[in-house]
Amino acid sequence: MAYLTSAPRGTKDILPEETPKWQYLEKTLLETAELFGFREMRIPTFEHTELFSRSVGDTTDVVQKEMYTFTDKGDRSVTLRPEGTAGVARAALEHGLLGDALPLKISYDITCFRYEKPGSGRYREFHQFGVELYGSPSPAADSEVLALAYECFQVLGIQNVALEINSLGCPECRKRYTQALLDYFNQYRGSLCSTCLERLDRNPLRVLDCKSPEDKRIAAGAPSILEYLCDGCKAHFQEVQDRLTAAEIPFRVEPTIVRGLDYYTRTVFEMVHTAPDGERLVCGGGGRYGGLIEELGGNPTEGIGFAMGLERVLSIMTAEGCDFPPEQTCDVYIASMGAAAGVKAFQLANLLRSEGFFAQSDLMGRSVKAQMKYANKIGAKYVIVLGDTELEKGEAQLKSMRNGGTSPIKLDASFSDTVYETIMENAYADLEEAAAELGLPPQDHRH
Ligand code: HAM
Repeated sequence: MAYLTSAPRGTKDILPEETPKWQYLEKTLLETAELFGFREMRIPTFEHTELFSRSVGDTTDVVQKEMYTFTDKGDRSVTLRPEGTAGVARAALEHGLLGDALPLKISYDITCFRYEKPGSGRYREFHQFGVELYGSPSPAADSEVLALAYECFQVLGIQNVALEINSLGCPECRKRYTQALLDYFNQYRGSLCSTCLERLDRNPLRVLDCKSPEDKRIAAGAPSILEYLCDGCKAHFQEVQDRLTAAEIPFRVEPTIVRGLDYYTRTVFEMVHTAPDGERLVCGGGGRYGGLIEELGGNPTEGIGFAMGLERVLSIMTAEGCDFPPEQTCDVYIASMGAAAGVKAFQLANLLRSEGFFAQSDLMGRSVKAQMKYANKIGAKYVIVLGDTELEKGEAQLKSMRNGGTSPIKLDASFSDTVYETIMENAYADLEEAAAELGLPPQDHRH
């Protein structure tokens, strides 16, 4: 029965009290990316399995261990997307977007699925905000994408996130580096875990990514990729750094970053948050991918992008006490006594909503006392009570729940205008009071 009342392991419900934070976070990130020219794309939740094994790489943990893959009723192997880059690249190719005006700049805000051991910021279903930029081999594109990553944290008010950057070189540098890694790790064949022994034969770079403490210790002494970069890759990486420095975007070079996905060439990076107790959390990552589009059947086209894990970003924002916009609360609650007043309350609440107010009336058949209690509980700013007398007179009182002040209000065509004027009057009065408390000279805000 627990299956009916608890969500699957590694998944999380986002309850109504949390959704305003999510909406704010997602809107802010998409709008920030828009300022850099990125437009949102929405891609399917599942794709043909081969798309991920070809792009993410079939020696990666993501493909080998973490994919939610199943055979559908048409006997096709499909996979819930473990990330967004492959799907966006597939869609860009499918719809011919890479032939149009380049660079192509795409943003996305998606759920992803990885069969990982849940815990410390790891989920099986999680959210990514990401961007992909296609068509520019220039370091200018790398710096622009890094600048956006930095700006995202700035606008959210997050302090302790650092950009750690590295270069994985081109296939030529990688060939020489792979050989150097093989030579190094071969000395430790007796100590490496069985998975890494396999990795050593198929893709030695993956050994640098192993989570086992012993392998990590061995990997710490491995040669650095930066010593194996060709002149072109070195110059590219240097220009990325020079541009970041010129724009005063803080970063640090971290030669141990290899990333867990296979498609990267040249610049790679991670966004790392360090808590006051020193705990590090990688809340985003990305890099350049030179061969991906070709691998998927397109003309050679360079891409670069990043994705951040939104569960992690939100947990950092909460830990750092970042500001979120105040939640919307009810502007006007219309309480009523009796059937006729109930209908009038519904009619007036509806009228207010069509004018853009947040308005509610009773749906539970409660007493006026209980309705007032409810209005208080939901934080209604104003209440109106309707009974027989009010209906007969065609007039009621609009009461401020903050200071108890009341204003008469006609239940006719002027109703929503009067609500608007009263709310504005009170807002100005509050503003003037706050200004006076701060010792600011009085001003006429009404015009
Ligand atoms: P990734 O590093 O695999 O890169 O994932 C990006 C971010 O997603 C991570 O830094 C982390 O914040 C979040 N994330 C990953 N797995 C989980 C999980 N199980 N639970 C919660 N959060 C998670 C990519 O996915 C690349 N597609 C990024 C990219 C875009 N590269 C180029 N363009």
